[in-house]
Amino acid sequence: MSIAIAEPGGSIQGSFTVPGDKSMSHRAAMFASIAQGTTRITGFLAGEDSLNTLSAFASMGAKVVRDENTLTVEGVGMRGLHAPPGDLYMGNAGTGMRLIAGLLSAQSFPTRLTGDESLSRRPMGRIINPLCSMGAKISGDSDGCPPLSIEPAGALKAIDYQLPMASAQVKSCILLAALYASGTTRVTEPAITRDHTERMLQTFGYSVALPDESGTVQINGGGRLTGCNIDIPADISSAAFPMVAACISPGADVTLTNVGVNPTRTGVIDILRLMGADIVLTNERMSGAEPVADIRVRHSPLNGVDIPESLVPLAIDELPVVFIAAAVANGTTRVTGAEELRVKESDRIAAMATGLQTLGVDARPTPDGMVIVGGKIGGGTVDTFFDHRIAMSFCIASLRAELPIIVNDVQHVETSFPGFFELCQAQGLNVRIS
Ligand code: S3P
Repeated sequence: MSIAIAEPGGSIQGSFTVPGDKSMSHRAAMFASIAQGTTRITGFLAGEDSLNTLSAFASMGAKVVRDENTLTVEGVGMRGLHAPPGDLYMGNAGTGMRLIAGLLSAQSFPTRLTGDESLSRRPMGRIINPLCSMGAKISGDSDGCPPLSIEPAGALKAIDYQLPMASAQVKSCILLAALYASGTTRVTEPAITRDHTERMLQTFGYSVALPDESGTVQINGGGRLTGCNIDIPADISSAAFPMVAACISPGADVTLTNVGVNPTRTGVIDILRLMGADIVLTNERMSGAEPVADIRVRHSPLNGVDIPESLVPLAIDELPVVFIAAAVANGTTRVTGAEELRVKESDRIAAMATGLQTLGVDARPTPDGMVIVGGKIGGGTVDTFFDHRIAMSFCIASLRAELPIIVNDVQHVETSFPGFFELCQAQGLNVRIS
């Protein structure tokens, strides 16, 4: 168990790069493994979540070589995976488990997917139902949670599926099963979600029809992926922590370099700008199929806002740290339409509301969001519920706290942001691990 002690009165300055995008790292490991030929990946996130995905594919036959900067994967082709020697452990990663389940549902060998305590409580019915409609044989425990058991099912069939919730993981799971299904699969999302699967499949040479106005993505089964070069940009979800830190820390001037700014991920920039943040994108360019930019953030006073629901899926992982911004803003911030936060690595509405209240902030949880009246942040001991993003959010809060914040159980930060604490110290925050 690691505890972080975040002393008040730090600052943040400088130009730096946060680790690679977690969503893209999972996908790159998966697609490279089932591609024909060699894929070279730079910027791969060496965090626990994506490394578990990589190990899973290595245990099914993909040849993986990691040097300091490049991950080289020798793919086995669409039908080249073999049965792993045991269960596939996906750690803390909902993305890893849900996406791999789509792919493994089409294989000719059985698999069993397990996860840590947090992942073992997360809902899998959302993927089990559509996969079963495609003919897959997949089941979870009696509550529809992991472990997941997958039996060979023969040929899968395409489906037309209306997602019941805005989830890129469910969309991607179905698209991966659809690679192996006969016919055209159509997935319609109720709101735009991240589209890294669609973009990266195209980079691997697989044709995908991107969403039309009705939000429908289309893909035909039976094609193949070809090895390629993938350069993964810095993760905007990790960049969100220093971004909010710079917004709330007087005198701060921070530049985050080479950050992925795919429009399906930039809700945090839009929300912070609505609150009055000074954020400027420079050096905007494409890195393969993904837009990237340098993001400069300078301190400015923030105001409370009603966060538009359309921005919620585009900022879903960044909302915990947005709540910290709201806690020091002038006025009231209201978040609605964010019930998905209740089924993340922790119940992030409950976890953030409890921690903020401990620190003396007027934070009222609602079934689908939170109402936060900005003011002062005090100090105290907060629980992270073993959730990396809760842990990092409360470390950032120390920049405006009046007393130390003790953050319990910060070890899960390694899942998405290796080097977070070292980076905090190097850039001026008074955060140490004990
Ligand atoms: C992810 C999608 C989101 C996000 C998660 C990563 C992805 O989850 O919260 O951290 O890589 O597809 P949902 O699809 O469940 O919203």
